Amino acid sequence: MIYRGLACSDVTDILLGHPSQDHTPLLTYEAFCDDYRQHFFDDSNPEGGRCFVIEFAGQAEGQVNYNDIERDRNRTELDIWMFEERHCGHGHGSEALRLLCDYLRSAFAVQGFYIKPSAANPRAIRAYEKAGFRRTSLFDAEAMREYGRKDSIDTVYMTRNIEHPF
Ligand SMILES: CC(C)(COP(=O)(O)OP(=O)(O)OC[C@H]1O[C@@H](n2cnc3c(N)ncnc32)[C@H](O)[C@@H]1OP(=O)(O)O)[C@@H](O)C(=O)NCCC(=O)NCCS
Repeated sequence: MIYRGLACSDVTDILLGHPSQDHTPLLTYEAFCDDYRQHFFDDSNPEGGRCFVIEFAGQAEGQVNYNDIERDRNRTELDIWMFEERHCGHGHGSEALRLLCDYLRSAFAVQGFYIKPSAANPRAIRAYEKAGFRRTSLFDAEAMREYGRKDSIDTVYMTRNIEHPF
């Protein structure tokens, strides 16, 4: 379900930049599994990252995940996608991100979060702002050193810190 939402849905073009007329998956299931290993789905390594299904009114609408917790900085990278366009724009994505940050802060003492949308995805940028993220003020080269390589040529680095949550 999570793979299909990413690689074979009507939001795939936005996520992977694949022309919608071509039905060949740009991302194979095997390549997805190389990135999203078993611990993302079975709780076997909570420090290594996990996926959560976003449910609304009993329906699976999307997924939000965190990657490995970088213990030297108490921070992690997040990613999110709704499974279909019809599930977008209802406030559920930004709420899911807020909930995941709160959960990671209280259960794992994670204080820093970052996410890397494309500048060509203003809806995602707005949703992340609603969830408390801001664009980093770092220049590109510094941001890449700090938060890793860009996911696309126009990656925007957005961060959130929860210093005093309680
Ligand atoms: C990005 C995503 C997770 C956001 O979740 P969501 O539930 O759709 O987001 P929300 O409804 O909470 O917020 C969307 C905001 O963007 C705004 N928006 C929509 N289209 C916009 C546009 N073209 N330009 C600027 N803002 C836009 C909406 O008005 C809303 O803001 P508002 O509540 O202030 O009116 C979801 O849209 C999604 O999965 N999109 C497809 C895949 C994707 O882009 N994933 C992110 C990869 S980095």
